[in-house]
Amino acid sequence: MSANSGKYPISERLKTPIAIINERGAVEWSNAAFEATFGDDAGNWLTEASRAVAGESGWLQGFFLDADELRSIDVDIEGCTYRIDKIMHVDDYDTPSVALWFEDVTRQREAEQAKSDFTAQIVHDLRGPLSGIQGTLEFVLSQEGTKLDSLNADLLAEAKRESERMMGLINEIMDFSKIQSGSFAVEQEPVRVAGLLKRAVRSLQSVASRDEVFLLSAHGRDIPQIIGSVEKLTQAVINLISNSLKFTPKKGLISVGAQILRKGDVAEAIVITVTDSGMGIKATELQQIWDKYKQSGNKSLRGGGGTGLGLYIVKQVVEAHGGEVTVASVEGVGTSMVLKLPVKRAA
Ligand SMILES: Nc1ncnc2c1ncn2[C@@H]1O[C@H](COP(=O)(O)OP(=O)(O)O)[C@@H](O)[C@H]1O
Ligand SMILES: [Mg+2]
Repeated sequence: MSANSGKYPISERLKTPIAIINERGAVEWSNAAFEATFGDDAGNWLTEASRAVAGESGWLQGFFLDADELRSIDVDIEGCTYRIDKIMHVDDYDTPSVALWFEDVTRQREAEQAKSDFTAQIVHDLRGPLSGIQGTLEFVLSQEGTKLDSLNADLLAEAKRESERMMGLINEIMDFSKIQSGSFAVEQEPVRVAGLLKRAVRSLQSVASRDEVFLLSAHGRDIPQIIGSVEKLTQAVINLISNSLKFTPKKGLISVGAQILRKGDVAEAIVITVTDSGMGIKATELQQIWDKYKQSGNKSLRGGGGTGLGLYIVKQVVEAHGGEVTVASVEGVGTSMVLKLPVKRAA
């Protein structure tokens, strides 16, 4: 396969496998490391790897169309993980070709995995004692007979809200690590959207009253059921509301609603919106808020930072339901988060 090994003398001596393919998909050149690593199966490997980098459909065209895009992807083949980088290459005769660079990252990935398993385990173990604290607080607060004076009752209620916030952060980190490890499955149960909104709103009502923000929900009648996970969708809406609570000043308004999107007479999708009259998000930051760990320049009005994972998880949950998320925001005016969820029917 190494047709003209004198062509790229430096690459020839590199330990990293490299192969160059042309627009017809033929291997134009590969270095000794490529052949040593992949042996007789090199052709299959290459097709496999190319598909992974460029996507299933029309992978070859994809390579050459995305000329500017340097893509990197991890591919598992025969027990090893290779990080494949694609580099556009144009020779003296202006013929485009693509160089693929295979870096063995098996050990690195194993170390990353061990670290994240460890973190996930610790975070999971934090839930036990925290549930204990929550249970105790609830018990004390609910005892009619005990005469808590109003200051103590307020302090305990505050402790309860903070423990809920902590539970929220722990759940966020756990969902995130499930998404990362590919074990984030969405249940397939009937979901009543109106009830879901009511529950989400109720769980944050006391925070809203403390912060003097109006929180209300409104939805049309006869919203059809959708299929999915009640728990994950409720959590997603709670996430959006708690974001709004962080960035909406006193006397502000947060409204949560649901509408039916119809095509003719048929309900096609349910659109859930969480809209606030808060500080809004800069246009330049709007697209990044869905990324993991991304937080915009906005400072929460009430302290209490986050993980930057909330909206990333919301997006993953909605997409796992076959839906999509969008945001509209005007700085100084407010933000509207929109979740569109398809209405699936039994066949
Ligand atoms: N309703 C909102 N109003 C203003 N900014 C928002 C709103 N929702 C999200 N943001 C911005 O998007 C960022 C990402 O949100 P998220 O992923 O939930 O992370 P976190 O809440 O942990 O900071 C937030 O840090 C904030 O800057
Ligand atoms: Mg958040």
